[in-house]
Formats: sequence, C-alpha cells, structure tokens
Amino acid sequence: MQRLIMATSKTYKLNTGAAIPAIGLGTWKSQPNEVTEAVKAALQRGYRHIDTAFAYGNEKEVGEGIRQSGVPREQIWLTTKLDNPWHKRAPEALERSLSNLGTDYLDLYLMHWPSSTDPNDLSKHYPDWDFVDTWREMQKLVGTGKVRNIGVSNFAIKNLERLLNDPSCKIVPAVNQIELHPCNPSPKLIAYCASKGIHVTGYSPLGSNDSPLYKNEILLDIAKAKGKSPQQVLLAWGIQKGWSVVPKSVTKSRIDSNFELDGWELTEDEIKKIDSIEERFKVCGDSWLPVKVFFGDDE
Ligand SMILES: NC(=O)c1ccc[n+]([C@@H]2O[C@H](COP(=O)([O-])OP(=O)(O)OC[C@H]3O[C@@H](n4cnc5c(N)ncnc54)[C@H](OP(=O)(O)O)[C@@H]3O)[C@@H](O)[C@H]2O)c1
Repeated sequence: MQRLIMATSKTYKLNTGAAIPAIGLGTWKSQPNEVTEAVKAALQRGYRHIDTAFAYGNEKEVGEGIRQSGVPREQIWLTTKLDNPWHKRAPEALERSLSNLGTDYLDLYLMHWPSSTDPNDLSKHYPDWDFVDTWREMQKLVGTGKVRNIGVSNFAIKNLERLLNDPSCKIVPAVNQIELHPCNPSPKLIAYCASKGIHVTGYSPLGSNDSPLYKNEILLDIAKAKGKSPQQVLLAWGIQKGWSVVPKSVTKSRIDSNFELDGWELTEDEIKKIDSIEERFKVCGDSWLPVKVFFGDDE
C-alpha cells in the first residue's frame, strides 16, 4: 500500500515534547502593508506556523493577519525573536513582542543572534554581558507561561558548546534556527544539533531574494523531471532532511504553491543529487554585527 505523504501537516517533536509544524511562513522583509494579507492568506491556506522577529518591524501587522485569518490562536505555532540590543532586557522585549502580536504567549522565543549589542551604539558589544547571560534570563521566561519553548538562532557549534557547557545552562535550546539551503547545507552543525536534541529550523530555504539557486542546473533538472517548481523541491528537500522550513512570500500564488507539498516526495537519489551541489553562498553573514558568530567550522 502506498504511504500517504502529508508534508504540510507534518510536525517535528522538540526536546520539550512540543510539536513544531514542518512548514511555516517567513516574514523577514515583508512590509507592514503587505504582511497582514500574507499571514492571513497563509493561515487560510492551511499553514499553522508563522515566523517573525521584533527586528523585522512587522509584529503588529503579523498579529493582525493572525486575527483576520479566523484561525484560532491555539492552532498556530508562533515564533518571534529577541533582538540584539535587547539582550539585557529580555522580559521587557518579550512584553513588547506579545503586545505587538496581540497574544498572551509565544510558542517559541528565539535569541535572534548570539550578539549582545549595546543599544546606545550598535557597533559595540557589551563588555560585561554576552549570550550566556542572555540565555540565563531567557530561561526564566519559561516559568512565566508566556513562552512555551525557547531556542536560539544563528548559533554555530563553537557558540553552542559554550552555551551548553556553562553551568547556568539548565534548558537545552529547543531549536536552533539557521540558514539552510543546498548552497549552505551545514552538515556538521546539523549533526551537532541532532546529537544534543536540538531541532533545526532552516531559514532562507529558497536562497532568499533573487536566489542564485534558481540557476542551478541540478535543481532545475530535478524540478522539471518531477513537474514541480524549484521552490517546492527546495522545501521538500529540507523537510525530508529533517528540519522545518520557513519560506517567505507576500505573493498569494507563491504562498499557495509553496504549500503544495503533499502526495509526493523526493527519491533518495534526488536528495543525494541536491546534496551534491557544490556552489556555496550565504544570505546572512556576520559582518554587520559587533562580534563574529560564524567560524567556518560547521559547514
Ligand atoms: N533567524 C534569522 O536570522 C533569519 C534570517 C533570515 C531569514 N529568517 C527567516 O526565514 C524566512 C525565509 O528566509 P528569507 O525571507 O531570507 O528567504 P526565502 O524564504 O528563502 O525566499 C524569499 C524570497 O523568495 C521569493 N519567493 C517565495 N516563494 C517563491 C516562489 N514560489 N517562486 C518564486 N519566488 C518565491 C519571495 O518573494 P515574494 O515575497 O515577493 O513573493 C522572496 O523574495 C524569513 O522571512 C525569516 O522569517 C530568519
């Protein structure tokens, strides 16, 4: 009997026991005037996972989209992120995000970057505070009931090791959200996260704006042979490799087509071919931060 493949209702179990939906809608660079419609369209299409961040400046409009969708809050996985200049003020930052989003809890609160930036001078890192201190404070938020799961983002192996080995670390991050597509596959970091029970969410799964991936012949050949779009193949690749994906779009037809992932899957051979892509690029580097966070040791 043929297995019914339902990627869009698939979830991954986190180390807290919670279940994160395999596909979510990303909202970075989604303008406030367009993101409400995008979130509403996604939820009405069946998405049950929305990824935003305080730094995206659109939490209010994301919250509005959730309300307009008519989908009950408890059916939605909502992730937002603690912004770098707020590391010393995590409880206040959380209150702001909750108020912006118009909700009384988050499913997942991520430390956006392992960079505790001085709010008075964004080119400076605090001399007396870093992500280990921030995590100590984030752990306290779980007890308030306002945050169901906490995690990190843009953490390389070196920083994860430091965090996990610190005596103040009582909660292993539930998730590490990192850039993941065939041109930034990071297998060592993924294996490390798996060994520690940390679920990975792949950001920029399509390669972001003007993705160089759409010129990749291996990807285009597989998409053509399967009668799927390159975007659908990229999302299926991520989900079948074992991580959740958060493709961003503000275009209804793309929001819909990115969700057409049920009833088919990539073969092992197709996955291997995509894994064999050698071209490399990164959408998000660390040169804009006051500290280095990528060390080239996780690819
Ligand atoms: N934790 C972090 O530091 C971090 C960093 C980066 C991203 N993220 C998260 O990950 C999400 C996704 O990453 P991303 O926004 O960088 O890029 P992405 O999802 O890889 O790609 C988004 C781009 O692809 C276009 N697109 C989407 N679906 C398409 C389709 N079916 N056909 C053609 N084009 C399509 C979108 O255009 P339109 O919108 O115009 O349709 C947009 O230009 C973000 O939105 C954010 O939520 C997190």
